[in-house]
Amino acid sequence: MSSKRPSRYHRRVRRKAPAAPVLETGQTEYEFGIPIAGTIVPKEQWTQCALKRIPEQTPVDWPTLFSRQAPLVVDIGCGNGRFTIASALSRPECNHLAIDLLPAVIRYGTRRANQRGLNHVRFAVVDGWRFLTELCSDASLSEIHIYHPQPYADPVASTRRMLTPEFIAWMHGRLIPQGKVFLQTDRKAYWDYICATMPALFDWHELKEQWPEDPEFRSRREILSRKQGLPIFRGFAVRRDGITKDDLQRIVAAMEQPTFAMDEQED
Ligand SMILES: C[S@@+](CC[C@H](N)C(=O)[O-])C[C@H]1O[C@@H](n2cnc3c(N)ncnc32)[C@H](O)[C@@H]1O
Repeated sequence: MSSKRPSRYHRRVRRKAPAAPVLETGQTEYEFGIPIAGTIVPKEQWTQCALKRIPEQTPVDWPTLFSRQAPLVVDIGCGNGRFTIASALSRPECNHLAIDLLPAVIRYGTRRANQRGLNHVRFAVVDGWRFLTELCSDASLSEIHIYHPQPYADPVASTRRMLTPEFIAWMHGRLIPQGKVFLQTDRKAYWDYICATMPALFDWHELKEQWPEDPEFRSRREILSRKQGLPIFRGFAVRRDGITKDDLQRIVAAMEQPTFAMDEQED
């Protein structure tokens, strides 16, 4: 199988894109019986949160795009946007950008943000790598959130795993001083890799419990994983300052690549 072939997960999501349910003003939306934050506002208050075309001039001037200067919170591989919607509602003072490779899931997130009347959220179909390397500048992001990065359990596809030493270094460079990365997965092997690599550039904090500010479910994948009885691993990293470019190169060169073997669960 070519490593460019879509994963099983991507093929399944492409196949199953059910019609959006019709919701009424004031209604709470549920997913697997778990409420999604916020309620539907009257239609005249709906917004346009889709970022359909990335500005040609890069790095993107994000404050101009959001029409205000505010801390930028990014959800990479956002899926249907459950985390971004909840975070944007609880932190109106931050701009929120949610990106994913899959147009189908971005449509779900966009619709939810639009129907909640959110002005400080954008959803875009963008590759996480492209976002970090081309679309943002150094010291421009306050928070990066990655929940359940695609595991790519198939050994051939494993080269596509997002969290590599180089990706971790790009996150370090693009975050502001004291900026944070939030990570969560249900895969022990991926978690062991994350715990082994993140401390090289970040002050790393592994959580033993749920997120204190979000004790229920943070993402769709978390709901599904917990229903299957899988463990959830959570942690956050605070950017370590004072690392020179030479240090960075040396540290990244010494890190392992994410070539670990993984149980063949569904991707
Ligand atoms: C297992 S799902 C998790 C989705 C969501 N974060 C959650 O927890 O419900 C992984 C998501 O990452 C997306 N993804 C995989 N590789 C990506 C990349 N390089 N850039 C952006 N998104 C990516 C997939 O399309 C998928 O929606």
